[in-house]
Amino acid sequence: MLEYQPEELKINKDLEGLSLKSIKEHFKLYQGYVKKTNEVQKKIAEADKSEANAVYSYIGELKREETFAVNGMKLHEIYFAHLGGSGEPKGKLMEMIEKDFGSLDSWKEDMIATGLSSRGWAITAFDLKDSRLHNYGADAQNIGAVWSAIPLIAMDVYEHAYFMDHGVDRKSYVESFFKNLDWDFANELVIKYVEPWQIKKNQ
Ligand SMILES: [Fe+2]
Repeated sequence: MLEYQPEELKINKDLEGLSLKSIKEHFKLYQGYVKKTNEVQKKIAEADKSEANAVYSYIGELKREETFAVNGMKLHEIYFAHLGGSGEPKGKLMEMIEKDFGSLDSWKEDMIATGLSSRGWAITAFDLKDSRLHNYGADAQNIGAVWSAIPLIAMDVYEHAYFMDHGVDRKSYVESFFKNLDWDFANELVIKYVEPWQIKKNQ
């Protein structure tokens, strides 16, 4: 069975409003998600499927926690990979945002509201259903996840992401997130996942 390996942390210094100490502690949680994804998927492969029951069963609990671990792994990989940039909007993603939200300011206003009202994540995703961007909120890694939507920007708004540097001031953390956003990485995701799909769709 495939074992996932954690990505490397590329950030090696304090960022504006986000200390290296806080980022390193947060990264340990991500490494835990990778470990738990491997563990839960191994246990699912070995579990007794005949006892499946929606009220309580071992396989049922494994299936519930699998989505939490897998989404935790995937979303944190985007999160850490697109921190450490200049924060300057650019590229194809910026153009898509301007088209789908009217302006960068409207997108940011909606993204901030999503981040301040969600309990887990605010995500700018390209939804294959209508071929446009949406800011989706998720109260937990496995609550609010939308199928066939490709996450391009993933803002972690769990308290662990900001408590050490910002206390309870989530708004100032959200501003720090935008200031350090690496648009080059987000644009790489567009090139890798969105553009090939758009080309195929238009054929
Ligand atoms: Fe997190």
